Amino acid sequence: MRSVRAMGAQSPRVLPALLRQMGTMVQLKEMGLFKSKGLIGDKWVDAEDGRTLPVTNPATGETLTSVPLMSGGDTQKAIAAASHAFTSWSMRTASDRSKLMRNWFNLLIENKDDLARLMVLEQGKPLAEAAGEIVYGASFVEFYAEEAKRVYGDLIPSPFAEKRMLVMKHPVGVVGAITPWNFPLAMITRKVAPALAAGCTAVVKPSELTPLTALAAAELALQAGIPPGVVNVVMGDSVGIGNALIDSTQVRKITFTGSTAVGKILMAGAGKTVKKVSLELGGNAPCIIFDDADLDIAVKGALAGKYRNSGQTCVCINRILVQDGIYDRFAEAFGQAVSGLRVGNGLEEGITQGPLINEAALDKVERHVEDAVSKGAKVLVGGKRHSLGRTFYEPTLLGNASDEMLIFREEVFGPVAPLVRFKTDEEAIKMANESEFGLAAYAFTENIARGWHVAESLEYGMVGLNEGLISTEVEPFGGTKQSGLGREGSKYGLDEYLEVKYVCLGNMKQPVV
Ligand code: SIN
Repeated sequence: MRSVRAMGAQSPRVLPALLRQMGTMVQLKEMGLFKSKGLIGDKWVDAEDGRTLPVTNPATGETLTSVPLMSGGDTQKAIAAASHAFTSWSMRTASDRSKLMRNWFNLLIENKDDLARLMVLEQGKPLAEAAGEIVYGASFVEFYAEEAKRVYGDLIPSPFAEKRMLVMKHPVGVVGAITPWNFPLAMITRKVAPALAAGCTAVVKPSELTPLTALAAAELALQAGIPPGVVNVVMGDSVGIGNALIDSTQVRKITFTGSTAVGKILMAGAGKTVKKVSLELGGNAPCIIFDDADLDIAVKGALAGKYRNSGQTCVCINRILVQDGIYDRFAEAFGQAVSGLRVGNGLEEGITQGPLINEAALDKVERHVEDAVSKGAKVLVGGKRHSLGRTFYEPTLLGNASDEMLIFREEVFGPVAPLVRFKTDEEAIKMANESEFGLAAYAFTENIARGWHVAESLEYGMVGLNEGLISTEVEPFGGTKQSGLGREGSKYGLDEYLEVKYVCLGNMKQPVV
């Protein structure tokens, strides 16, 4: 996009109109990070048929730029580039890969302000939260730069005198990484960093709603010295790109974060070429507040766990189950905290809640609230579109919710918290587990034995006890049931990109001396 200066002298009255027509001006300290083409090998490219798609700012509806609407054909070229790069990348020493990844981490941190700004513009989350995501996203690169050096094999005690047995680990090959819009950087690095550490190369497909942060991160990977072709980025036609990744025999692994419906399609498709698959899918996180919870800790934890990213994370609390004895006090204190949230454009000072990503997201939130109210829920805070219009929704608290409501069964993915009353521990655990999903769950209690029992009983991949923010690079992130397969982050996340090879050395007779 041209800068204001490049547009030539305009009268002060003409300029604002012209700017509106062109869309939001993206101003970064390093304008070289503002990329609006795909990356294949060492080339920033348009779609092969020249089609484009706009990237819009969800807070204003303005167009930021347009990016190539890439297809299956473009994706095949990216796979070829990744496949070519794999030979040399996988042969490098782990310490060599580690150094380049460390450079990438440093550059992500050095450019935190620009990356955060770009993220707010395309995704909407408040600036401080976006800056937090840059640090969170970069932490996966740092962590796996270190782990790259610790991909150990095994020497197996042999049951045969003349045989020796060992296990070595190999990178799986080219990885197709399909990522969502809610974390435009972290969901990419959580996949690409362990892949690169293991010696794999990647074709990344960011969401077409938020490709700009991904492209900037890819530019920084090149600047870090990571060879061209190791990270490729294509975006546009989700179905065409997804099919090309799935059908390719060169792509040996698909890693996906997104809806359970799409995850099932990818999993079935991956069967055609028997690829490895990791899936991080939908959730329906319960949060249990027991009578003996510390009220302040519970309110703070539930607030962070529910309203982070305006409720648009897979681990966001979806239902708050509150025990009889604390229900009224919790509803009152939590309602006050929710009322204190500030909604607006994420670039403005003091904003804690940005817009929802699009109209469809807003419609879903509205449908859930209407359904709950029609079945007896009481609006305690919010409950409607925000006066700012567009895709802004008021942070909402519903009392008197029940398991008959849509919001109890489906992920709302928005800033709405329903309070459901319960009496006994077993009743709460049963309600919490009443879901086809099993990603994250939360519980607040001051009683260690009770907390331990609940953590053991919850059928979820992750449990926050007296804590609403559980995500870090060192934890195994992932779910059970229809919330997915595999784990991301931590030492476990690396295994997803490694093949185990067993080698048997036979006829190891002792030399006769
Ligand atoms: C997600 O929403 O999928 C990721 C959330 C997180 O990393 O905390």
